[in-house]
Amino acid sequence: MKNITQLKTKALRKVITYGTFDLIHMGHINLLRRAKSRGDYLIVAVSTDEFNRLKHKDAYYSFEDRKAILEAIEYVDEVIPENTWNQKIKDVEAHGVDIFVMGDDWKGEFDFLKDYCDVVYLPRTQGVSTTKTREDLAQKHG
Ligand code: CTP
Repeated sequence: MKNITQLKTKALRKVITYGTFDLIHMGHINLLRRAKSRGDYLIVAVSTDEFNRLKHKDAYYSFEDRKAILEAIEYVDEVIPENTWNQKIKDVEAHGVDIFVMGDDWKGEFDFLKDYCDVVYLPRTQGVSTTKTREDLAQKHG
């Protein structure tokens, strides 16, 4: 007879991360791959165009396009909208999230979530960002 641990179904470990994810680059891909490797199911909460306006961030691609691009990435299982700074606790609870992941440019900012799930800050990939891509292209094509 199988012992009890063999009979238990392994629970799905859910990971969540947040961001604008405009002009997808290797920093995003590395972050998404590392985030997914922490669990089994990766949810990406993507800033809506309205939320970006609030943050004074002007994405090149619309929310719908950024969402579709993320959904096409093999590490991403689900994309949800990020409408406000204050939705994180609600998202963690509603989706049964085990691990919250962000790049370490946000280190410490979301430690309040430790009451609800694990909080992990991953090292940023050096030398690349959406801002840098935009600046480099503007310089090149003037
Ligand atoms: N990220 C990363 N390494 C980079 C750039 C981003 O790990 N070189 C991570 C961020 O830390 C964040 C996620 O990717 O967890 C989404 O970041 P986002 O703000 O969309 O990307 P940036 O390239 O930083 O955008 P911007 O230049 O507009 O700030």
